[in-house]
Order: sequence, then structure tokens, then C-alpha cells
Amino acid sequence: MNVAVFSLIAVIGGWYLLRWMRTISTRSSPMPHVEFDGDKSRLRYARESEKLIARGYRDYLKKGQPFSMRNVVNHRRPLVVLPRKYLDEVRNAPQHEMSFPRFMENLSILRDVGGPLITDELCHATRVDLNRALPHLLKQMHEDCLAGCRELIPECSNWTSMMLYPLLLQIFNRIGQRVLVGPELGRNEDWLDLTQNYTTSLLQGTNSVRAKYAPALRWMAKYLERDVKVVYKQRQRGAALLGPVLKARLAARTEKLADSHDDAIEWLIDEYRRTGRKVKAEEIAQDQLGLTMAAIHNTAATVLSTLYDLVDHPASLDDIRREARQAMDQHGGINRAALQSLHHLDSFMTESLRMHAMPEVTVQRLALVPKTFHDGFRIAAGTQVMFANRQLNHDADVYPDPERFDALRFYDDPEELNNKQHHFASVSDESINFGGGFHACPGRFFAQDVIKLLLASLLVRYEFKYPEKGQKRPADMADNLVVYPNVTVPLLIKELAFGDISVSGML
Ligand code: HEM
Repeated sequence: MNVAVFSLIAVIGGWYLLRWMRTISTRSSPMPHVEFDGDKSRLRYARESEKLIARGYRDYLKKGQPFSMRNVVNHRRPLVVLPRKYLDEVRNAPQHEMSFPRFMENLSILRDVGGPLITDELCHATRVDLNRALPHLLKQMHEDCLAGCRELIPECSNWTSMMLYPLLLQIFNRIGQRVLVGPELGRNEDWLDLTQNYTTSLLQGTNSVRAKYAPALRWMAKYLERDVKVVYKQRQRGAALLGPVLKARLAARTEKLADSHDDAIEWLIDEYRRTGRKVKAEEIAQDQLGLTMAAIHNTAATVLSTLYDLVDHPASLDDIRREARQAMDQHGGINRAALQSLHHLDSFMTESLRMHAMPEVTVQRLALVPKTFHDGFRIAAGTQVMFANRQLNHDADVYPDPERFDALRFYDDPEELNNKQHHFASVSDESINFGGGFHACPGRFFAQDVIKLLLASLLVRYEFKYPEKGQKRPADMADNLVVYPNVTVPLLIKELAFGDISVSGML
């Protein structure tokens, strides 16, 4: 063998050896795979994953071991559920290592269906501007809440059957849109119709594409799939409705007209300019739809879920109603001080969320680089990790007697407010309903305020019960790692008798 051939073989061999060593060092550590016996259909994974995660939690996570399970979005990339000992390292990892937006992009195949990405601008607008503006937005939010209840809930001096979820969704959409897009579009019926229906269209598009297209062919869906074309149409409609408002807002800035707006259109313009991006109607509209998607359904579903629990716990309902009336009387209506004094309500909402949290898993991240944890456990770049939120909420080592609904579990003595350990929007080692770390839900304080506003307003005005005697909270419904309260069950509603409530004029 001459020297040239030998050198060539050595170079090729060395290259393969290096590649092999890199693969080994970036491969995930071995871990158990948890799967269903028998029926392994997509539908079963979408509806019953809670059972798998419960099994993995008991058999592995509690022993400090991660496990993997099937990913219905992409079978070649199993999901990895991690034990709590890795929570700190994941939630504190920088965005360029562990990304929530990129995880969502993969999970909801956002690029294939034309859905809104979780952009830095959108997150900044929520994390910084919305939270800064919350104190002075409260008055407007309360007025919108009352107007929504007045206009949308039909007269019901006798017990009247109502499907509450669509009503709650409409009320939240009105309150939310006023905050997101301001007065011009916040009252525009076309915009309200678009934002109210957008999430459902996007989910339909996502589900169709996941079910019918192999991952490598999903890019074609925007040309072929009817449900995806609907999403694109809505995207254009959003940009068309927002365009003139954006133009007027930008003109007002150029002409230095007094700017009295404090809403997400302004926050996004500021953020786009700060980061040197051109402000375009199409992109601002996508961000607004992204915020709508994150904000409206979650919040409306949380109110419905809490209402079911309130109906099941009439003694707590009386306490909370009494507390709400006192707060309104004492503080002259609902304002920040009144909301902060609703300790029974806060504890009840937190317990309801613990028992019926919507996300099955949270702190979901896509590893953008290989990662080695403190004890040597490795994950490869491209791994999708998460933590078992609902199982944690039902873990007896974390919450004693976890299957008992304890309305006062999170009640702290109002006299010792400085020591208050928990509130609805808390994130901690024990509570990851809103995620954790840098990506922890930035809209949770807004959600907390709106949910309290609406519940307090409803409870001082109405009574609620199930149509059937002895009926209890209906079983929750699961879909792809999200668990919803059952939205198909009507409740009976009746206005409380006048004179019964000192603040009846509030509505
Ligand atoms: C009860 C209602 C809500 C629940 C249960 C909820 C839950 C969550 C969860 C679990 C995350 C991921 C956090 C993580 O992985 O660490 C998240 C992120 C997010 N949420 Fe919420 N959320 C709610 C309401 C809202 C509202 C009202 C808004 C907007 C006004 C909002 C905006 C966002 C945004 C922008 C992100 C992405 C944050 C980032 O990537 O840094 N959410 N939410």
C-alpha cells in the first residue's frame, strides 16, 4: 500500500472516529421508555397520557429517574419527562440552551400551520409592559368585566340553564382585547370575532396536519390543507384590521401628538424599534394573535373550573361571597386594595388550580445544545424535556392528603401578609402550574386579576347549581397533554334577590 492510499484511509478513518465520538458524547443517557400496552393509537396518547405520566411518575420520577414517552407530533423524537432534581438546571438554563418558544414551535408545528411564534417582542411586552401597566389598567378591566356580564349574560330572575364557557370566553376576550389593542379595535366586532375564534381555528389546523402529514411533508400543508388555509386567511384579516390603527398610531408619534395609549400595540412598536426591526402590520397582528392565544382560553377555562368547585363547596362559596361584598363595601368597589383582600378567594382558586391544573406538564423546553446535568445525566440537542405538573400537584410528599379539596390549604392569616407563602400566581419548587424561571408565564398576574374580577363580580350577583340533584363536577377532558374542565355541561344560574346583596348596583 503506498503512502498516499494509507494517508487517505487514515484521514477518512479519523473523520469517522471523530464523528462517532461526537455522536456518543451528544447522545442522551439511556432511560426507561413508558408506553401503553395494547392500543397504541394517536388518539389514545392524546386522551390518556395522564395515565402514562402517572405510571412514569410513580415508577421513575419519584426515584429520581427520567423517562421517555411517545411524542405524537414526531414519533422519532420521544418526549423526556424529568424528575424534580433537574428543575433548577432547566428553568435557569439560558434561552440559547433551553428554549420554551422553540419547544412550542415544534409542539404546535407553528411554522407549518402559519401560527404565531412566541417572539421576544411579544414576551417583553407581557413581562415588562403589561405588568407595569396592570395597576392603572385595573379600572378599565373592571368596567369591561361589568359591561361584558351585563350585555352577555341573559336576564335570569328564575333558574336558567346556560352553557357558561362561550360566555366566559366572550367576556375575557373583551377585557383582554381592550388591554392588547386599545379602544379602536377593542370594541370592533370584526376584531373581537377574529380573536375569539382564532385559537380554535389554529388548533384545528394543527390537529389536521399532525394527523395527516408526515413531519417531512408538513411544509406542504399551507398549499393543500383547508384548515391551514383558514389560519392564513385569519392572519391576513388580522393584519388588514390592524393596519389602519397601526398607521394612525405611528402618524401620531411622528406628529408628536399627545399619546394617551398604554396597550400592547404601543408596547410592541417600542420593542420593535428598540431591537431595530421594521414595524409591520402583519407582524404586530401575529404577535397580538399569539397573545390572544396564550391569554383567553386558559383564563376562561380556569374560571369555569373554579366555578364547578365552588358549586361543589357551598360553605366556601358563602365565605367567599361574604368576603367579596365586604371588600367592595370597604374599598368602594373593586380596586387593587379590594382584590388584595380576597384571601379566601385566592386560596380557593389556588386549590382549584392545584386539583385541576390545565397543563399536564410544564417547564417544557427544547434543548438547543447537548446538556449534561449535575449528576452526569445527558440529553442530546433536539431533546424535548418537561416536568410532570399535575402529578406534582397530587404528590402526597408535597401536598398532604392531596386528593382532598381543602379550600383553606393556601389561606394565610391576613394579619401576617408579609409572610404570605402562596398566592394564585406563585411559581416555586412546589408549584409549576405557570412554569418557572425566565419563561414562567409573564401573563399570570394579569390572569390572576381578571379571574378574581370576574369571579367576584359573578358571585355577588348570581347563584349557581347543577341541573340534576346530586350532580357533581363533571370529569375533566384531556387533549394532548392539556386537561380542560368539561365545557359541555350547562349550569343553572339565578340572580340573587335584590336586598340580598349590598353591592348589587355594581353590575
Ligand atoms: C390561567 C391562565 C394561564 C396559564 C395556566 C398559563 C400558563 C403558562 C405556562 C405553563 C407557560 C410556560 C411557562 C414555562 O414553561 O416556564 C406560559 C407561558 C406564557 N404565557 Fe401564560 N398562562 C396563563 C395566562 C396567560 C395570559 C393571560 C397571558 C398574556 C396576557 C399569558 C402569556 C404567556 C406568554 C407570553 C408565555 C411565554 C413566556 C416565555 O416564553 O417567556 N399567559 N403560560
